[in-house]
Amino acid sequence: MTEQKTVLVTAATGNVGPHAVRQLLAAGVKVRALVLKDDPNTGRLPEGTELYEGDLRDPDSLDAALDGVDGVFLMWPFFTTSVETAPAVVRKIERAARTVVLVSSIGVHIGLERVDNNCHAYLEELLEATTLEWTFLRTTGFQANALGFAPQITSTGTVYFPYGAAVRTSVHEGDLAAVGVAALAGTGHGGRKYLVTGPEALSQEEQVRIIGEVVGRELGWQDVEHEDARAAMVGSGWPPSYADGALDYFAMLTKEPELGSTVVEDVTGRPARTFRDWAHEHAAAFRPQA
Ligand SMILES: NC(=O)c1ccc[n+]([C@@H]2O[C@H](COP(=O)([O-])OP(=O)(O)OC[C@H]3O[C@@H](n4cnc5c(N)ncnc54)[C@H](OP(=O)(O)O)[C@@H]3O)[C@@H](O)[C@H]2O)c1
Repeated sequence: MTEQKTVLVTAATGNVGPHAVRQLLAAGVKVRALVLKDDPNTGRLPEGTELYEGDLRDPDSLDAALDGVDGVFLMWPFFTTSVETAPAVVRKIERAARTVVLVSSIGVHIGLERVDNNCHAYLEELLEATTLEWTFLRTTGFQANALGFAPQITSTGTVYFPYGAAVRTSVHEGDLAAVGVAALAGTGHGGRKYLVTGPEALSQEEQVRIIGEVVGRELGWQDVEHEDARAAMVGSGWPPSYADGALDYFAMLTKEPELGSTVVEDVTGRPARTFRDWAHEHAAAFRPQA
């Protein structure tokens, strides 16, 4: 009989974390979730999850959570300006674990996100220098990013956002998690830099049209000017270089669609879920409250 593995999931109560936790448990893995003190979102985690309090900005606070783990599903929930603790966190993971899966970004894959301007590239570099068996999930945007449109959709029926014509291959968060779970629960994924995408290319406007079809309501799209969008992003806490990177990327995707891959199906053996699948799962978020 093989010994049961133990895996720590960071950013466990975000969009990807609960999927990763559920799927790891289903694969027979003992799962620890790293949660902040008094985290109000632990209800998103299934029964059987072991909660460990810790803060990625305070590496020593991770000691208990890392003690005795085999692997870490590492997500770094900060922008580029908050990376001071990354080297110490990676050192602690190297001391404790054998395997690590990092949720990285397509931006690294295509050379737009670099070590000097982005946390994903920086973390990849730190992990590559370790003895860990690492796997990088260079993901496109999440289908869940469309939840950001929900307040506008429910209140006005129109989305005001830049670059509606930008064509994306957004991935279902559960599919992204599944690729990571395959790497942590199985073997043969060490040293792989997977480009993880959804199965189709859809413009942002088309995504909103699909949401409208699913909730039975015609929805509109109104492009916002690049500079106005930048000001709003920076105003809400995005570092300016990060806002520029995201907006320039959207602008590029109006001319050439985002890259796609078959990694989800290749690694998990199941087809990647479509945006329409995702919209059906989340339809309630886009319906005006009664
Ligand atoms: N969204 C995208 O399109 C996209 C694209 C490329 C890559 N990514 C990567 O995907 C990763 C996962 O995204 P996500 O949306 O699932 O989660 P996320 O929004 O990055 O992270 C949210 C989670 O991190 C926790 N958290 C916040 N600050 C923390 C701290 N100081 N220490 C420990 N935990 C902390 C939050 O806890 P609370 O519940 O208490 O808030 C929550 O569980 C991201 O970190 C990002 O690097 C995302």
